[in-house]
Amino acid sequence: MDNGDKRQWTVIWRIFLIGGSLMNSHEYLQQLKERIVQAEYQYYILDDPQITDAEYDAMLVDLLAIEKEHPEWVDASSPSKRVGGFVADQFTKVAHYGPMLSLDNAFSADDLRVFDRRVREVVANPEYVVELKIDGLTLALTYDGPALQRGATRGDGVNGEDITENVRTIRDVPLKLRDGDADAAPAPVSRVDVRGEGYMPKESFRRLNIERGEGGQPVFANPRNAAAGSLRQQDSRITAQRGLRYFAYQILQAQEIGLKTQEETLAQLSRWGFSVNPYVKVFTDIEDVTAYCTEMADKRHSLPYDIDGLVLKLNNYAQQQELGFTSKSPRWAIAYKFPAEQVETTLLDIEITVGRTGVLTPTAVLREVAVAGTMVARAALHNLDYIRTKDIRIGDHVIIHKAGDIIPEVVKTLPEKRNGTEREFHMPDVCPGCGEGITRLSGEAAHRCINPQCAGQQREVIIHFVSRDAMNVDGAGAATVTQLLQEGLIGDAGDLYTLTEEKLMSMERMGKRSAQNLLEALEESKGRGLACLLFALGIRNVGSKAARALATRFRSMEALQQASLEDLQAIPDVGQVMAQNVEAYFQDPANQTLLEKLNAAGVQMSLSAEDEAGSNDMFMGASIVVTGTLSQWDRSEIERIIERGGGKASSSVSRKTTFVLAGENAGSKLQKAQTLGIPIYSEEEFRQKFGLA
Ligand code: IVH
Repeated sequence: MDNGDKRQWTVIWRIFLIGGSLMNSHEYLQQLKERIVQAEYQYYILDDPQITDAEYDAMLVDLLAIEKEHPEWVDASSPSKRVGGFVADQFTKVAHYGPMLSLDNAFSADDLRVFDRRVREVVANPEYVVELKIDGLTLALTYDGPALQRGATRGDGVNGEDITENVRTIRDVPLKLRDGDADAAPAPVSRVDVRGEGYMPKESFRRLNIERGEGGQPVFANPRNAAAGSLRQQDSRITAQRGLRYFAYQILQAQEIGLKTQEETLAQLSRWGFSVNPYVKVFTDIEDVTAYCTEMADKRHSLPYDIDGLVLKLNNYAQQQELGFTSKSPRWAIAYKFPAEQVETTLLDIEITVGRTGVLTPTAVLREVAVAGTMVARAALHNLDYIRTKDIRIGDHVIIHKAGDIIPEVVKTLPEKRNGTEREFHMPDVCPGCGEGITRLSGEAAHRCINPQCAGQQREVIIHFVSRDAMNVDGAGAATVTQLLQEGLIGDAGDLYTLTEEKLMSMERMGKRSAQNLLEALEESKGRGLACLLFALGIRNVGSKAARALATRFRSMEALQQASLEDLQAIPDVGQVMAQNVEAYFQDPANQTLLEKLNAAGVQMSLSAEDEAGSNDMFMGASIVVTGTLSQWDRSEIERIIERGGGKASSSVSRKTTFVLAGENAGSKLQKAQTLGIPIYSEEEFRQKFGLA
């Protein structure tokens, strides 16, 4: 579908929607459901969305409204189940339809050779399918006819827990098996059991922990724990918000339905509408398998989800049967586990930093060591409970863990190495940022400084205000903000807009050029619009998504300030706590002064033109490099367009670059893209391809 088609389709669909709402018939409901299922399939499985998020949301809202009016039309496969709503008292224990086995592990190339030799003792010329070992949790799905009937955890392998309603919220678990390619599809059986891995993508995990940290809730140690915690929620609405995903890899009845190999199974799962991990390779030589394992060990950190190894499976089912099983695992498969990225070092001290919401976070100061290719001198300790549970003491030998770009963590201490000089850590009585007292609210893991004038908090608040997703003031990083505060040039974010060239140049290490650049960036930031501004204000619990929802609903700061708690809570995504935080924010006189300052400085307090246009996902997941001069947009405008489309505007060309947008006088970046064979668009081509006016 090109863009013209897409727009035309959108218009037709909108008319259809309006017509449909009026019609409000059962037939319309069926069509609506089909459209939604198709949109989910395009988005989550094919990675090729054909409609915007807003259009998808509109269809879902319509569906929910009709189902509310006609509860008798609701069935278990309705896409409305994706948003959750079912609250379980407890999970029922259920027996699996076949045991859920575990795998033997290999930790080296030698272990893999031993496995290969054993296989070759039984079958000649084995063929191995090598899949990624997704670091999540096994989920057993049962389909009766084509509809998802049950979703269960692994449990002890024989019995698991019935978490069906939560599983229904995972967007790439089909609620009904698709027909797929009718010619290729084998005869259906009445019941089908699909096994695979439920997981939380790294990005969802990162966001969830930020949210929890800011809300004073304990953070999850890793995406696997977060996925497990999310699936065991009794309220499926919470699970629905956690962004869980699923990769399918096994059909219990594969042979009964005529599938002969693991490769055929994966293809069948795709046809049924499952996500199948794309990094699957088939090898005949174990040395090639080893090379692929090494390659993926390097690549694992650039994947959007965690993997902890690879799984080798004998491809042919007849050969699998010849090999059989031990009491707990198949002899025809093995898991290759990556070497751990954990090293030992000494914990020299524990420092406390104040976050912008006043949360005090302990950080370990370490004897510097190399982990996973980088030097590490600090590691996260999260909160006092974490330190106490793990009995971490200053001076301890500790094991730290670092994976890719994840913040290093202290995972455990080595108490057997203590010599008696180690000290227990105590939270300070006063905030290191302002010297005032600190509190710990009941039910919260975090300690907080509740002094609204805290200098440490203020620094973080301003750093957040100027950050990329907020007001995006280029050139104003943590160091500049700290210096501005130290020299008394600013007291809050509003003062940024009173800076002059003269004031800036009075600072040490600030030249005329940098001063001018900073002023220009500040000037430009004034027009970011209400959504960015609301996020920038750092209202507790209000992330960028909620800020956008508030901005879209109220359209101006004034209207938002006048909104009642009920008005606020009427917005999807805004719960009671957030509504209260918003209200409290506007009631605080210090915040009112800040808003007046911002308003007086000419900061836009209403929706920007971009906000009006709404965000979209046309660049979802893409890494785009802009080079040369464009005629229609300046650099920051085009970067915002890319970011609002879900893409990343990157400054250097690498193999990971999705495409390069080259304007006039493009130089070395263009050349590099040509050498690497990366797609290059001119401004005109870019405009046409993405339908930008
Ligand atoms: S096959 C009988 N394939 O790893 C074979 N397992 O001990 C069943 N896992 O918890 C497992 N990715 O959930 C298989 N591509 C993959 C996998 C995978 C992750 C998990 C599985 C189980 C553990 C195996």
